[in-house]
Amino acid sequence: MKKAFLFITMVCMLVMIAACGKSNDNTANAKDKVLTMATSADFAPFESRDTAGNPQGFDIDLANMIAKELGYKLEIRDMKFDGLIGALQANRADMVLAGMSATEKRKKNVDFSTEYNRSGEMFITLKGANIKSVDDLKGKTVGVQLGTIQEEGAKKLQEKVQFDVKPLDNSTTLIQELLSKRIQVAYMDKSVAIGYIKKQNLDGFDDPTSSSPGMAVAFPKGSKLVGDVNKVLKKLEDNGELQKLKDKWLKDQK
Ligand code: ARG
Repeated sequence: MKKAFLFITMVCMLVMIAACGKSNDNTANAKDKVLTMATSADFAPFESRDTAGNPQGFDIDLANMIAKELGYKLEIRDMKFDGLIGALQANRADMVLAGMSATEKRKKNVDFSTEYNRSGEMFITLKGANIKSVDDLKGKTVGVQLGTIQEEGAKKLQEKVQFDVKPLDNSTTLIQELLSKRIQVAYMDKSVAIGYIKKQNLDGFDDPTSSSPGMAVAFPKGSKLVGDVNKVLKKLEDNGELQKLKDKWLKDQK
């Protein structure tokens, strides 16, 4: 009788230890499975902040879908666009979604997913500014966001036409500078420019010189996530979810 009691007690204890171990594992997993996305939330409709200060936009929705598909909890870190590549290199983020163009130059330092959106570039001006072509930029001040392909593109264009380039940290500041006439032109991605032109009653023209690559998710070099995310992107493309996102956020584009 005593033996049987001892046996039952031991079985109970083993079951409890096993259960305990299991639940510990689960909490450890849930904690580990965080996917950190870095972005620069100054780039509507891709990433901005709503009135309550929460990140919103095409990239935010897409990142949430990616995290969900892969079983992660998404954590968003907002920083200057200029610091995003460095954040990946220092492994301070697992991925970047920031309307980032997958350029050959950046590919030396980070890996990219397949492209999820393509946009040209535009020069934005005030209405009636009479700046309608690259040649008209002569003598003007052109604002660009620091670290973007437009900063680089503007510097290249300067070899052909003489104008000043003003690099700024934040892309929304570019529009404020334009409205307050501290710059005469803002140079940025067309998908973003179109929104400003409509909302702020501005004018602009397409950049005829640019042939920039599409936007893609960026990762630290060698990240195992690249393949996983590409699979998710393919799935979202095939099942129409990516198109739905474009309809939601980029409907002004055409
Ligand atoms: N597409 C441009 C680039 O890759 C500009 C991106 C700016 N993104 C942002 N979130 N401010 O350089």
